[in-house]
Amino acid sequence: MTDQPSITTTKPRLVTTREQLRRELAEARSTHKTIGLVPTMGTLHAGHFSLVETAESECDFTVTTIFVNSTQFGQTEDFAGYPRELEDDLRALSRYRTDLVYAPSEAEVYRDGHSTYVEPPTAAQTLEGRCRPGHFRGVTTVVLKLLNLVGPNIAYFGQKDYQQTVVIRRMVDDLDLPVAIRVCPIVREEDGLAMGSRNQYLNSSERIQAPALSKSLKLAAELVEQGECNPAVILAQMRQVLAHAGISRVDYLAIVDPETLADVRRIDGPVMALVAAQLGKTRLIDNSRIG
Ligand code: PAF
Repeated sequence: MTDQPSITTTKPRLVTTREQLRRELAEARSTHKTIGLVPTMGTLHAGHFSLVETAESECDFTVTTIFVNSTQFGQTEDFAGYPRELEDDLRALSRYRTDLVYAPSEAEVYRDGHSTYVEPPTAAQTLEGRCRPGHFRGVTTVVLKLLNLVGPNIAYFGQKDYQQTVVIRRMVDDLDLPVAIRVCPIVREEDGLAMGSRNQYLNSSERIQAPALSKSLKLAAELVEQGECNPAVILAQMRQVLAHAGISRVDYLAIVDPETLADVRRIDGPVMALVAAQLGKTRLIDNSRIG
């Protein structure tokens, strides 16, 4: 990974249709370049840029996609209001070596008559899947489409959406897709808040409460280090951290097997601790590998 993004003055090449994308990729393919894909929904932040930098350090040709995917939002969720900042994103990407940005319209991705969806694996049924019915069906469908369109050697995802990475890995394995999935670490603000496009919705008092999610995960790690192996004890203490910060709308607190996402009864190896909570109108998620 490079320390500093290489400074360029031009925005990356932007394409918006499948035909343009295929044409641009044809040359990279014909010269056997390693292709990296960074799928995003835009409103790029340091978390996304770390994916872009990692892709650039490992691949010859990097494609960043920007598409706010309607099918992964529930009917009562924030699809209409989700921030869309394409010009700012392109400007920010000009500081990196991203070769191509694919930013299709809704009609380009879900063309008239579109009716085929990916049935997500069982790992999609818990946690986010339970709180956001249909979410992973939308994610797996759009990710499979992007993988098919770009044909990357490696695709990059952030650990912030941990369950998403488990679901995508499983899909790639189950459907024999010829792509490696790389999961990059969560990038955090100084106070621990995981970077996320929705953080900008937080008002000033919610922004003060928000780091409690990462604090609760830190406490979980400390308790395990001190020898606590009962998840129920740890989850109760994590809940107290959230309550202390005034966060009462907790969607879930969980300690699960990193592969299956099944709840663990006793911690005797690495596990994932995950949290999702609602702060005002903003839903935040965070996670950490512990043990
Ligand atoms: O993680 C995201 O931003 C989205 O879920 C993804 C992978 C770009 C699919 O829309």
